[in-house]
Amino acid sequence: MKYMILEDLGDGIKLIKFNKPESLNALNVEFLKEIKSFINEVENDEGVKFLIFTGEGKAFIAGADIKEMNGMSENEAYEFSQLGHDVMNGIENLPFPVIAAVNGYALGGGLELAMACDFIFASNKAKFGLPEATLGLIPGFGGSKRLSLRVGVPKAKEMIYSGDMINSEDALRLGLVNRVFELENFIDSVVDFAKNVVKKTSSNSKMVVKNILNKSYDLSIEEVNEIEKKEFSKIFSHKESKEGISAFIEKRKPDWNK
Ligand code: CAA
Repeated sequence: MKYMILEDLGDGIKLIKFNKPESLNALNVEFLKEIKSFINEVENDEGVKFLIFTGEGKAFIAGADIKEMNGMSENEAYEFSQLGHDVMNGIENLPFPVIAAVNGYALGGGLELAMACDFIFASNKAKFGLPEATLGLIPGFGGSKRLSLRVGVPKAKEMIYSGDMINSEDALRLGLVNRVFELENFIDSVVDFAKNVVKKTSSNSKMVVKNILNKSYDLSIEEVNEIEKKEFSKIFSHKESKEGISAFIEKRKPDWNK
């Protein structure tokens, strides 16, 4: 891969480092296509249990590539936005947990990518914002809706209208970020979290509940609860529920690889 470094951390945990530091990992068409083909590859890989995205250098991703967007026609901009949406939807629907480990700047398309992940862990040096309006643009990769789902419409409007960046503490307070760690041990802290989750809980449970929660944005509570009843009953025939329940009764730790 040209713009990403893949590290296998064992236990099915993969770390992807965005690596285009000369432009603060700005997303151009080629980079987005690379992420898209990576997603297509990992989504059917049963060996993957957890994915972590982070950035090399002082940025997670400083947004869509402003230089490449210069002079785009309406059609080109639509195609660019479509590609960005495809990537974000692909990340959101991966059948395993995905964390955005935001080391530094997550701006514009970079914050949009982080918000397509299940949740965001931030270093104490991270900065978040949707500064598109400072360029006379609007968020183009699903950021308006995803930000409002996380922080509510009024706060999303405040961030987008002002184009201001917020720090990790404010992002934590708003619920945009789940946890904040010191930059010094940042990736180790995120990986420890992932290792614990992989060991402790069933991959199948996480996949099923992720699917329900992702669908829950568009459905009524009755529809979601109906899906939950069906999935709850179906899960009893899965080997991991049998293992989890047996392990509890036999007073031992479950072995999810059985
Ligand atoms: N696109 C292209 N290049 C970018 C970039 C971006 N989004 N962000 C940074 N760069 C480039 C800079 O142009 C610079 O390159 P040169 O050395 O060739 O000039 C290099 O990365 C380093 O950046 P700075 O010198 O600006 O670094 P800094 O530490 O002084 O500032 C920053 C950091 C505040 C993040 C600043 O770079 C910045 O404001 N970047 C733009 C952020 C932005 O507006 N993002 C939104 C893009 S629009 C979008 O994302 C639309 C969408 O929703 C799809």
